[in-house]
Amino acid sequence: MSSVVVSNYAGSLDIAAIRAAFPILSTTVNGKPLVYLDNGATTQKPQRVIDTINEYYTRHNSNIHRGVHFLSQYATDAYEVTRKKIQRFINAKHDHEIIFTKGTTDGINLLAYSFGKSSIQPGDEILISAMEHHSNIVPWQIMCEDRGAVLRVIPMNEKGELIMEEFYKLLNSKTKMVAITYISNSLGTVNPVKEIIDAAHQKGAKVMLDAAQAIHHIAVDVQKLEVDFLVFSSHKMYGPTGVGILYGKEELLNAMPPYQGGGDMIKTVTFEKTTYNELPFKFEAGTPNIEAGICLGAAVDFIESIGIDHIAAYEEYLLNYATEQIKQIQGVRIIGEAAHKSGVLSFVIDGTHPYDVGVLLDKMGIAVRTGHHCTEPVMNFFKVPGTIRASFAIYNTKEEVDALIAGLKKAVMMLL
Ligand code: ALA
Repeated sequence: MSSVVVSNYAGSLDIAAIRAAFPILSTTVNGKPLVYLDNGATTQKPQRVIDTINEYYTRHNSNIHRGVHFLSQYATDAYEVTRKKIQRFINAKHDHEIIFTKGTTDGINLLAYSFGKSSIQPGDEILISAMEHHSNIVPWQIMCEDRGAVLRVIPMNEKGELIMEEFYKLLNSKTKMVAITYISNSLGTVNPVKEIIDAAHQKGAKVMLDAAQAIHHIAVDVQKLEVDFLVFSSHKMYGPTGVGILYGKEELLNAMPPYQGGGDMIKTVTFEKTTYNELPFKFEAGTPNIEAGICLGAAVDFIESIGIDHIAAYEEYLLNYATEQIKQIQGVRIIGEAAHKSGVLSFVIDGTHPYDVGVLLDKMGIAVRTGHHCTEPVMNFFKVPGTIRASFAIYNTKEEVDALIAGLKKAVMMLL
């Protein structure tokens, strides 16, 4: 792929050089150069992340927080460096407000369980939205069932935007938590989260943001947002799978009971009574995914070497271009036309099934996701069985968008 110089944002990026850092992008699929447009599901990994994994197992493998020996201390330091990098990356006040989890889903389950236990009484209300991923629906349903609480849903309009008047009607003194996605994984909608946070706080409710689809696309500043909790995954931000982050304000995390018991989360254990460790370890039972935690730090370095604002501007350009181009295809219906979008272009094509289109694109080396994207309520709302979703990352190019459009035209010709 040739270099793309983008002129309609401040600064320019050498996309060819960025692509060169991702070995997988120069592979072929079905004999065709890979066009990877499934970044909403997971991003590819740059060489520096791959090298860090290799180096960890070649030179530093050891358990953390447990050993006096060199390797254990080295691994512990490297792991804790990532915590500090994440603190800086999202501008948290303290590094102990950064809890390592297995990923976004794990973070939401932790929060729903633990916050539910400490703060939810029968009749209390939890507010989510109509565009949530299943992982931001089901944990709250389980918790509501356990605690006798009520789950309420902020509706959206035909463009895939939250209906804010309805949000204000639903928000009341019984609302204890507003758990909402920052950017929708199936629509690309960027929600007005600051407005939601401010309004929720006025009613005494806490807010959790699912930032899984935001953290690598736009700048996220937890202090500026004043958000209470925030969750995201490493693998969507160029890091390895199996690790994620739950951010929480210190006083709120301190008030919550542990989610799981085990090593590392305790101060003392007797058969009669256990006392719990301090933050962040209270929520980090057992040997974690050490390698992934360390490598997440390398992923943050990668993002910061480009600059998240440059990434946001470039990806906005790419999404706008793709949106413009896709409208040329007859019978295309874009699912999700919010005024403010990021990273995701979801669509259906009249007379075709998303799965069939996805399979044909794959034959051309083009990877997209098809289906309900773990958002069945969104598909029901738009009355579609699923969508074809192209989702972008910093290494995608205008030429890849052109390849997608050409591939779609071909697929439509074959199917209709
Ligand atoms: N939640 C991920 C996606 O949207 C897996 O594809």
